[in-house]
Amino acid sequence: MPEQTKLLASALSPGPNALSGKSLSVTGLRKSYGGTTVVDGVDMEIAAGEFVTFLGASGSGKTTTLMMLAGFTEPDSGGISVDGRDITRLNPGKRDFGFVFQQYLLFPHMTVAENVAFPLQLRGVSKAEIRRRVGETLEAAGLSKFAGRKPRELSGGQQQRVALCRVLVYRPPIVLMDEPLGALDKKLRDQMQTEIKSIQRELGLTVIYVTHDQEEALVLSDRIAIMKDGRIEQFDTPRALFERPRTPFVADFLGAANFLTGKTEDGGADDCTRVRLDTGGVLTARSHPCVPGQSVRAAVRPGKLRLVGAGEGCCSGTVETAVYVGSLTRITVRLDGAAPGTQPLRIETAIVPPRPGERVCVTADPEDVSVFAATDGG
Ligand SMILES: Nc1ncnc2c1ncn2[C@@H]1O[C@H](COP(=O)(O)OP(=O)(O)O)[C@@H](O)[C@H]1O
Ligand SMILES: [Mg+2]
Repeated sequence: MPEQTKLLASALSPGPNALSGKSLSVTGLRKSYGGTTVVDGVDMEIAAGEFVTFLGASGSGKTTTLMMLAGFTEPDSGGISVDGRDITRLNPGKRDFGFVFQQYLLFPHMTVAENVAFPLQLRGVSKAEIRRRVGETLEAAGLSKFAGRKPRELSGGQQQRVALCRVLVYRPPIVLMDEPLGALDKKLRDQMQTEIKSIQRELGLTVIYVTHDQEEALVLSDRIAIMKDGRIEQFDTPRALFERPRTPFVADFLGAANFLTGKTEDGGADDCTRVRLDTGGVLTARSHPCVPGQSVRAAVRPGKLRLVGAGEGCCSGTVETAVYVGSLTRITVRLDGAAPGTQPLRIETAIVPPRPGERVCVTADPEDVSVFAATDGG
């Protein structure tokens, strides 16, 4: 953990476990605007001290969900509770959540110190205590020398750090963040991600974070809720989302999957892990609930397709392109028998790559092959 962050965390933490997060439970949360459902039945259990991220495209309902948790937007139906206590209709000020938004929402007419003091004033903390805690927090964040400045006299990163101090100074057990780093450049964003994660871990805070940036979600989160059209497609650890996507949408959203259409074969003993591809050839998937003879789509990540010698139950094809991108080479392969107009397979390989025009044979380990019913959208 960077020295500055360690200081900030220790200044805010008056003793061991003094600042631990709370658990949050959400059931059947719904919201419509003018007949359009924008949040469509969100259920989730978030443990105390967990870092959870809503990840999804613009318009998928992330902000609306967060605003309902915060109490700024009233749900049409559903319930929210914190450590088992129902807070669905509690007004935002009484929830004691912290919020950090993309627009820092610092008060422009107030100094840095006044901004950080504001939430303590709201909570009726004594003047002397406010002075002490604001001083400590700014000191720990490396912002003491800016205490008397106005926000416009600070850089974007400094402003965002002030916004974070202003939330952490009153020690909320649950912090909600909506694209807080969206306005920062890449380098600063990486640095702030590390800081946020360190503070969250050190203090045991529960954080619910919103972003449309996959990498950011993967770096920060214990679990990620993939949102689509107001619903959670899957709520899981980053690894489970990659290795066990439950829908074609999730398989494709994280890391771009290759989809191969075919039919499951009847292997007897309820085994239909062998998929006979429409192009010819067979791909063996990991075990999954299935019906023999069912039309399916098999999904495999570009990094999980392997090039092997012909005749090993693999799918033959011809290399179309091979582009070296540093540590690996991106190859596209057109399978023999592929219908015109279909996408070639995308493969990433670290071995000496074949050249365009070369004949290859493609396979994958069963563990890396997910199978979905052909009727599953996404
Ligand atoms: N106050 C509102 N009135 C009408 N429509 C809204 C309102 N807030 C959000 N929406 C709509 O709800 C959908 C989800 O929005 P939002 O939750 O902001 O998505 P995200 O944060 O994932 O980009 C969008 O189509 C948006 O236009
Ligand atoms: Mg949003």
